[in-house]
Amino acid sequence: MTDRELIDLAKNAAEKAYAPYSGYTVGAALLTKNGKVYLGCNIENASYTPTNCAERTAFFKAVSEGEKDFEAIAVVGGKSLDFKDYFTPCGVCRQVMKEFCDEDFKILAGKNGEEYLKVSLGELLPFGFTL
Ligand code: THU
Repeated sequence: MTDRELIDLAKNAAEKAYAPYSGYTVGAALLTKNGKVYLGCNIENASYTPTNCAERTAFFKAVSEGEKDFEAIAVVGGKSLDFKDYFTPCGVCRQVMKEFCDEDFKILAGKNGEEYLKVSLGELLPFGFTL
């Protein structure tokens, strides 16, 4: 699985976003160490706070299927599928990643065209909380 392939899967996942309130469509593709991919999209709610981010949708799908070993996640996001800026995960999603992933877990922050940032969880969430 190449970085670009994982980003393309994240773009496909964004097409499933349920975002009638923000109009902000986000897609994630989470790669396990054994090569399986779990997709996620953001799922909004009229009451706002129950909204789930795309990254957490992907993680919760994977963990609920028994997966615990993760290699990388690709994420894209933007208004109405227009991914014009690099998309980096929110703090809550970084904390969920911290629960299951090592410091070297890779985050591919995609945007339109061929451009993306490749950063580690350790870079995105230094000194992250664990018990
Ligand atoms: N969102 C994500 O899906 N992932 C993030 O990391 C940050 C934000 C979603 C939540 C909401 O549906 C929309 O983007 C606007 O905040």
